[in-house]
Amino acid sequence: MKIFIDTANLNEIKEANAMGLLDGVTTNPSLVAKEGKEFRQLLDEIHKNIVVKVPLIKEGLKAVKTFTAEGIKTNVTLCFSASQAVLAAKAGASYISPFVGRLDDISADGMELISQIVQIYNNYAFNTEVLVASVRHPLHFVDACLIGADVCTIPFKVIESLFNHPLTDIGLQKFLADHKKSAK
Ligand code: G3P
Repeated sequence: MKIFIDTANLNEIKEANAMGLLDGVTTNPSLVAKEGKEFRQLLDEIHKNIVVKVPLIKEGLKAVKTFTAEGIKTNVTLCFSASQAVLAAKAGASYISPFVGRLDDISADGMELISQIVQIYNNYAFNTEVLVASVRHPLHFVDACLIGADVCTIPFKVIESLFNHPLTDIGLQKFLADHKKSAK
């Protein structure tokens, strides 16, 4: 399971990277707009190895075919159905990004879509990686791992919440208190 951070904030990227869990970054125009910086300059600051995001529309998939032939990696975004995901794989997308949170928002089942895409891609040995996007809470991440998605892109706040467990905090307090008893 690869973990990407979904942000355009450099401090969040640095902090998540320091945690030792980061395999990459995804961003989008809405996240970049929050930072108040020029788009291209910010992308240059984030990293050199850029995968091009392409929307899941006809013209987008034509572009994916061209990019793929030229050896340029693509992430096909705004995917909301299994049929769309098949088309992206056929066009040669490096990644497909189904938006689970936005499906949940309209009372559809985002993670069910991930199960379908993973199964279909396995059926036909498509090389396109399933990148779970629009992640809103830790259960999206856990379900993505259980289903066997290739990548989960996670906002910084949700990454932080993955660490939390009350028994960890209680246990640590007890160990620290007991350590004081035996430390000089
Ligand atoms: O970057 C694409 C996706 O992760 C956006 O998430 O929360 O705006 O639906 P959200």
